[in-house]
Amino acid sequence: MRLVQHKQEAYWFYRFLSIFYDKLVNPLFWTVPMRDKALELGQLEEEGISVVDVGSGTGFNTEGIVKMVPPRQVTCVDQSPHQMSKAKAKPQLQGCTFLEGDAENLPLASNSFDRYVSAGSIEYWPDPAKGIREAYRVVKPGGIALMIGPLEPAHRIGRFIAELWMLFPKEDEYWQWFRDAGFEDLQVCYVKPQWVEGKGKYGIALAGRKPINAGLHTEQEQRAEPEKEKPMGLGRRILLIFRVIIGSLAGFLFIPAALIGYLRVAFSDQSHTPEAQRERLNRYQITALLVVVVLVVTLIALLN
Ligand SMILES: C[S@@+](CC[C@H](N)C(=O)[O-])C[C@H]1O[C@@H](n2cnc3c(N)ncnc32)[C@H](O)[C@@H]1O
Repeated sequence: MRLVQHKQEAYWFYRFLSIFYDKLVNPLFWTVPMRDKALELGQLEEEGISVVDVGSGTGFNTEGIVKMVPPRQVTCVDQSPHQMSKAKAKPQLQGCTFLEGDAENLPLASNSFDRYVSAGSIEYWPDPAKGIREAYRVVKPGGIALMIGPLEPAHRIGRFIAELWMLFPKEDEYWQWFRDAGFEDLQVCYVKPQWVEGKGKYGIALAGRKPINAGLHTEQEQRAEPEKEKPMGLGRRILLIFRVIIGSLAGFLFIPAALIGYLRVAFSDQSHTPEAQRERLNRYQITALLVVVVLVVTLIALLN
C-alpha cells in the first residue's frame, strides 16, 4: 500500500511531523552514532569537496556532513519548506545553500558535485531508481553517491505496518538501483539504533563511485523531464487526506515499539557500550512518555 510514498502525501506528512521531528521522533530511529558510521562511506574528509544532501529535511544528516565539510560547500535539497525552515535556523548550518526541490528531478546541473548524500528520504520517493539516476547525473565523474535508507523489517507484523506506511526496500533493490544507474566500486555498511534487537538488518548505507571516464554529456541530454503538477480534483484530495492519516498512524505505531525498546535498554547492562555512545531518551521524549502514561492511566480510571 505504502500510503505516504508519494510526493504530495510526503509533503503533508512532513507539514505536521516537522513540528516534532527533531526533538521527539527522529532521535528514536536515526541516531548520531548511526549517522556518523554511515557517513564514513561518503569519504567526506577529502579536502575541498562539494556535497549535496538530498532530502535534507531539518538538517540532522547535514549536521554530520558539516563536521567534515565547510557549510559553504554544502547544498541541501528538500521538497518540504517546513522541514527546511528548521534546518535554516540551525547555527551550525549557516552558510549552506538551501534549495527546495524534488529528489527525482534535482534542480542542479549535471556533474556538479563531488559527493551526493541522502539519508532517510528514499522511502518516500515514488520512483527510487529515478532518484538514484539523478544522483548519478549530478555527481562528477570520480565522485561518490551515498544512500542511507531503511530495509524491509524481518518480522511479518513489522513488515505489514511498514508496508502500509511507506517503502522499505529489500537490500537487493538498493544494489540493483545503484548498478543500473552506472555506479561502481560499491561499498556497504549497516546501521541500527541500540534498542533494535536481533540479527535482522534495520538500515543500510550504500555508496558507489561514478566512473572517472563517465561522459560529460550536456545537461539537456541527461536531465529528467520535470513533472507537470496536475490540479487536484475532489476525489484526489479526499484520497490524499485518507492516505496521510492512515499512513501516519501506521508510522506512529513504530513509536511505542521504539520507546519500549529504549526503556528495555535503559534497564539492561550497558557496560559493553562506552558512556559517550549510549543512546538515551532526551528530556522531550521523557516528558512526552510521562504525558502519555498519565493520559492512559486517567482514561482507564475514568472508564472504571
Ligand atoms: C526522514 S526525513 C530525513 C531528513 C534528513 N535527511 C535526516 O537525516 O534527518 C525525509 C525527508 O525527505 C524529504 N523528501 C521526501 N520526498 C522527497 C522528494 N521527492 N524530494 C525531496 N525531498 C523529499 C522529506 O520532506 C523529509 O524532509
